[in-house]
Amino acid sequence: MRTAKTPGSARSAARALPRPLGLVPTMGALHAGHRSLLERARRENASVAASLFVNPLQFGPSEDFERYPRSFESDVAQFEAAGVDLLYAPSVDEMYQPNFSTSIDVGALAKAFEGAARRGHFAGVATVVAKLLGAIEPTRVYLGQKDVQQTAVLRRMIGDLDIPVEVVVCPTVREPDGLALSSRNAYLSAAQRAAAPSFHRALESVAAAFERDGDADHVIATARELLESPLVWEYLAIVDPATFEPRKDVRRPALVVGAVRAGATRLIDNVVVARPDGGDPILTPPLLQAAGRT
Ligand code: PAF
Repeated sequence: MRTAKTPGSARSAARALPRPLGLVPTMGALHAGHRSLLERARRENASVAASLFVNPLQFGPSEDFERYPRSFESDVAQFEAAGVDLLYAPSVDEMYQPNFSTSIDVGALAKAFEGAARRGHFAGVATVVAKLLGAIEPTRVYLGQKDVQQTAVLRRMIGDLDIPVEVVVCPTVREPDGLALSSRNAYLSAAQRAAAPSFHRALESVAAAFERDGDADHVIATARELLESPLVWEYLAIVDPATFEPRKDVRRPALVVGAVRAGATRLIDNVVVARPDGGDPILTPPLLQAAGRT
């Protein structure tokens, strides 16, 4: 595995790799969720690149940028073991030169839900991912469904800016009790961890009840009761998976999104409302893939 520290050296190393080239962008602290993205990228491409960069632009002033888990040595070993050909791991100064001032605003989609709770977060994500795509020029980029609004924002940005890359969204990897894997799960106390599966159960119950009942307000009110203390709801909603506009009736496709607070830690998760044809609007969305635009 070759490691590049600057956009220029990453680009020349990436250009030398056989195509197709899959990119797995990460902020490190790798877990089985990341490994599933790396495995899929390895299966589907002649070459695999990964990035490791804890992006300050996507953290608010009161968020956990400083204490975000960092485990460089163990991450590098896992990238190696996963068969990554090129690791792009720039410093903050390399990524953002003095006087850096560009920010990508994806519009209303980036202001709702996670965007409302974390102001500027999606501008930071879109900006860094645009830079990563510019440096690596991958054929495909691999993202996890757990950060589903991030995948919608990035699809929108990639489509709007005509960036020639295919977005591949991979299913959320969960603990046996349903908790979605996340680097932030490490922050949970024993009591918070014990209550955490009730969050996923509540989302599942919204999806199942919405299919039967079709009244979003009613099923959400019922499911809110299922969350166990000390977890506290931030939001629970049924939305259109592409626009994140609320869905009030059983028109499909639909996605249940939620966020809860566990002390200072936020957990997010989502589940798809099943479609009669078995199609999945997140993992295999119609039309929005940028691949056709290359
Ligand atoms: O999902 C993440 O880990 C980050 O938001 C990403 C896509 C690597 C951009 O920093």
